[in-house]
Amino acid sequence: MSSHGDQARRRVTIHDLAAMRARGERFVMLTAYDANAASILDGLDVPVILVGDSLGMVVLGHDTTLPVTLEDMIHHARAVVRARPRALVVVDLPFGTYQRGPDQALESAVRVVKESGADAVKLEGGARAVPSVRALVAAGIPVMGHLGLTPQSVAQFGGFRVQGRDETAAATIVEDAVALAEAGAFATVLECVPATLAARVTAASSVPVIGIGAGADVDAQVLVWHDVLGLSAAPHPRFVRAYVDLRTVIADAITAFSDDVRDGTFPSAAESYGD
Ligand code: KIV
Repeated sequence: MSSHGDQARRRVTIHDLAAMRARGERFVMLTAYDANAASILDGLDVPVILVGDSLGMVVLGHDTTLPVTLEDMIHHARAVVRARPRALVVVDLPFGTYQRGPDQALESAVRVVKESGADAVKLEGGARAVPSVRALVAAGIPVMGHLGLTPQSVAQFGGFRVQGRDETAAATIVEDAVALAEAGAFATVLECVPATLAARVTAASSVPVIGIGAGADVDAQVLVWHDVLGLSAAPHPRFVRAYVDLRTVIADAITAFSDDVRDGTFPSAAESYGD
């Protein structure tokens, strides 16, 4: 049975993202790592939630995403899925859980989808990831690619640096984007590349390109929850725009609470139980 209300709650699918790109409608992807954040995003016009392995840095306190485990990802993905968001939920396969090839990638992706209830997985890399993308898609698991500054390769890059600055590297990124789409990836994240290269990739790709630090000429933009809300500590990469300074808002609130406790004005009679 279907009603107008059910239709309004229809979950976002990978086909909706393709349709948005075809209509030239830019969309947003945001990271979330818990049910509270996912419930806030629900009802807002955010069609994709990424349970990113950035959780290693913004939630778990690591310096890079490399220590994040599959169990960490499943744990946080479950929390996001429990909020029953309308958005498509995509989960990062963390470092070491797919690099051995298609068999390992499939085993990890099946665990993520089965144990968390998420819709899709994301993995990093171009040509070298293509056999794994094919294997996952053949198994019915939607896959998002990730090119440019792929944080799991930060040591190889020598730090968090802009990628694709010379023509050889730029051409490889364009070829990789085409190869990922041909292998069946439904979208590709493009991180920290010159804006002109991002425009080239977007023109060459047959699937939505979701930029982060990739300029405006892409199909969609993604930012990390803690960055967009001003929760993460400085310094930030230049592509971050914080729309609110929640670190300060929270500090002010906690200071006010502490002051109220110290001077005895919290709790009030209304905040206490009678006999
Ligand atoms: O892990 C993550 O949050 C990501 C986004 C920055 C794209 O991969």
